[in-house]
Formats: sequence, structure tokens, C-alpha cells
Amino acid sequence: MPVVPTREILDRAFAERYGVAAINVVNDLSMEAVLAAAVQERAPVIVQTSVKTVKSIGLDLLFAMWREMTAGIEVPVALHLDHCPERQVITDCLRKGWNSVLFDASALPVEENQRQTVEVVAEARAVGAHVEGEIESITGVEDGVGSDEEAERQSLETALTFIRTTGVDVFAPAIGNAHGRYKAEPKLDAQRVTDIVEAEPIPIALHGGTGMTDAQFADLIARGCAKVNISTALKVTFMQSNLEYLRGAERRDSWDPPSLFKAVRADVLEMSADFMRQFGSAGKAW
Ligand code: 13P
Repeated sequence: MPVVPTREILDRAFAERYGVAAINVVNDLSMEAVLAAAVQERAPVIVQTSVKTVKSIGLDLLFAMWREMTAGIEVPVALHLDHCPERQVITDCLRKGWNSVLFDASALPVEENQRQTVEVVAEARAVGAHVEGEIESITGVEDGVGSDEEAERQSLETALTFIRTTGVDVFAPAIGNAHGRYKAEPKLDAQRVTDIVEAEPIPIALHGGTGMTDAQFADLIARGCAKVNISTALKVTFMQSNLEYLRGAERRDSWDPPSLFKAVRADVLEMSADFMRQFGSAGKAW
């Protein structure tokens, strides 16, 4: 099963209560390594790109990489645009072929966020794509988007009205989660996930995955977090793997770029595969 609609991946995960790793990639090597992990683990996967990555690589080149790397792939995969407050980037990615987008209007008043999300959902539907929505910004800055201030949480009623009015396919509530590295084990409001899912059965996106415990993942996935976002862990693995390899290269005075790429690819692949096994999506490809 090659590139499929994001909703198809998430509906199955939500029904069977496993989590799909939604991993932010930063370049060609990390994109290929995440896809290779999905093939190795027979796992569905969502590859995410931040707006920063879209702009730094360029939309056309980034999508060409995705198209070539997923041509003939035998596991279900989807391409998702992570936290995007910019309507033009949303439009461009949807037209190009991204399978879903997170329209991040959490900085706007909820009514305005809702109004614009309705428009984004209509835009996505026109090209067979899906939309993730949020009404509170997730704490922490993710590739230049967001704030370190914890946002005020909206009421359950407001969240449900947003989900019903906009028709979003995935919802990302703030539950005490944060992007980046946690200074201490996060205190998560798991009940909020259950409250939303019981009232409105919709796949929930769990942001700020890096640093959560095994028990937290298991509990939240069982409650309906079908999409589990990982970004910081990939960045750290990618950078540290490069650093470690380059330190060795310096000691050996040996400078062979393909050997560096091979080492970093192996580390990113292993990290991604670990998450797929941990979230229960390994072996779930159809
Ligand atoms: P982390 O950076 O904490 O892994 O969070 C990723 C995320 O939620 C991307 O939207």
C-alpha cells in the first residue's frame, strides 16, 4: 500500500488503538531513513515537514524527494505539513500533493480560528486531503512556530464545537504536553483526551512526544491518540550521530562523506523503528 490519505492511516489506528509515528524530517537523508524504518517494521507512518523545512528545501524539491522515495513503497505512508499558521503555505502544499496539514491558528481567537479552519477544510477536501486542527497552542517553539508560554485551555464545549463546526479530521488538544525537551516528566491531562473522544470519536494528535514515558504513550494511545508526533528526538539523534561520527573521523583523519551518511541513516532509522514498535504500529501495514 503506497501513499494513502492521512485519514485512512489514522482511522485504522484509532479503531485498533495503536499509535502512528508522525515524524518530522529535516532533509533527504532523514526522510529516507524514516521511510526505511516503516518498511523494515511493516508500519504505517506519517512523514511531517515543518514550514521551516518547506521553506529551507523548497516546496517543489521537497515534494519531488517524497514522490521519488515513496514510488513503489509497500507500506502505507502519508505526507503532513506540521504547525502552519500561513494560509499561503497551506494552499501551496495542498495543491502540490501533501496528504494533510495542521492549520495552526491557535494564536487567533477561537471564533476566527474556527472560521478560517472551515475554509482550510474545504480547500483540503477539494484535493482529497485532510486537516488537523488545534485551538490552544502547544507549549514550546517548534521550528520557529509557537511560544514557550503555556496557553490557556479552552472548555470541552469549545473544543467539541470547533471539531463539529470545522469538520477537522484530527484534533490536537493541549494536555500539558510541550514541544522540545521536558525538564521533568510532564504532567498530562489524559482525561481530556477521553472526554473529547467519548463525546466526538475523532483521532487525537499527541504533540510533544519526545520525552514522554512508555506508560504515558501506552495510556494516551489507548485513549485515542492515534497520531504521535516526534520531532525533537529526530533532531537530537541526527545532530548527535553526525557529531559522534565526525569526532571519530577527526581522530582517524579520515573524511569520507558517504560513511557519515550511512552512520546517521542507521541511527535515524533505528530511532524511528523504536517508536513504531513502542506505539504498536509495527506490523500494522496493510
Ligand atoms: P517534540 O519536538 O517534542 O518531539 O514534538 C513534536 C511535535 O509535536 C511536532 O508537532
